[in-house]
Amino acid sequence: MKTKQFTADELEQAATLIRQGELIAFPTETVYGLGANALNEAAVKQVYAVKGRPSDNPLIVHVSDFEMVKQYVADFPEQTEALVDTFWPGPLTLIFNVKPNAFSTTVTGGLKTVAFRMPNNAETLKLIKISGVPLVGPSANTSGKPSPTTAQHVYHDLQGKIAGIVDDGPTQIGVESTVLDLTAKDGIPVILRPGAITKERLEQVIGQVMIDQHLISEKETPKAPGMKYKHYSPDVPVWIVDGDQKVFKKAITWAKNNNQRIGLFADEQITATFSAEVEAVFSFGEHSVEQATKLLFAGLRSLDEQAIDVIFAQAFPESELGIAYMNRLKKAANQNILKNDSIFK
Ligand code: TXA
Ligand code: MG
Repeated sequence: MKTKQFTADELEQAATLIRQGELIAFPTETVYGLGANALNEAAVKQVYAVKGRPSDNPLIVHVSDFEMVKQYVADFPEQTEALVDTFWPGPLTLIFNVKPNAFSTTVTGGLKTVAFRMPNNAETLKLIKISGVPLVGPSANTSGKPSPTTAQHVYHDLQGKIAGIVDDGPTQIGVESTVLDLTAKDGIPVILRPGAITKERLEQVIGQVMIDQHLISEKETPKAPGMKYKHYSPDVPVWIVDGDQKVFKKAITWAKNNNQRIGLFADEQITATFSAEVEAVFSFGEHSVEQATKLLFAGLRSLDEQAIDVIFAQAFPESELGIAYMNRLKKAANQNILKNDSIFK
């Protein structure tokens, strides 16, 4: 199959392919999604197949407005209106109980709930509207690899396996949406996956919000099935470096003593300081968690293609957006963190 690149004025063609059961990758403000008609079970099965995704991991249904969701959900929790008014379109996925048989078990993974999201991207909203159907949209990467933040990343993983890609340049945020479960019996919403819409911002709008325990304690089984899988991993092992230049210096010395070729993912100052001592660098620019988050997956993908044995990636404090950044980075690093007090063997 030839994978076609669609521009903004070719969305009609892309929508026709969607209606015919084909797969089209689409841009969002978070990461690129792999779109298919959520009401066409064969098309949804194909999404799992091309990604190599475990079948018990349910998909997010993407809509172009809240009206679309109303067809599938009988009762909305009281917080819904305020959340939708404040955050849609945007990087917030909402989980509702759905009407029986509204979607196939291929979409729901056998759960009674479904995740919905209205992405903040003009092209994609138009694509959904013209298609006239909701679209499933997992991240458009091979399962387990870093999510795609450019159309080129999608090509790299899925070229020849999908009908097309709508290219709208690099994504703004860089990590996937916050997933908020609104179906808890006690009525308190629970964050199942951290993203750019933080707990603090949600609480300003709807009051108390909980965080799924597994996001704090790694021993708990995550409620979002997707959070239990190894994720975001380059082939090259990743270590998080939590500290200042001295800690980077220690980490680099330790790796060199073990004959490891090093790639660095860090701010412009750290990368400039050590560029002569390591084999590859990827700078995310100024020292800000927004910048680091935006370029995390691109950086991991780019370093993974270099001749290196280890990637050292810079930590950020786990607050606000830093929670989402560190959540993805810890998965990529298999929880390996080098700190000042770590024993460098
Ligand atoms: O930003 C995003 O959300 C991107 C863009 C493309 O929209 N999409 C995305 O989809 O990240 P995906 O499939 O890679 O991640 C969906 C996450 C998984 O962790 C999945 O387990 C969880 O949402 N999820 C989906 N439906 C759920 C449900 N009914 N209950 C609990 N978790 C659910
Ligand atoms: Mg994903």
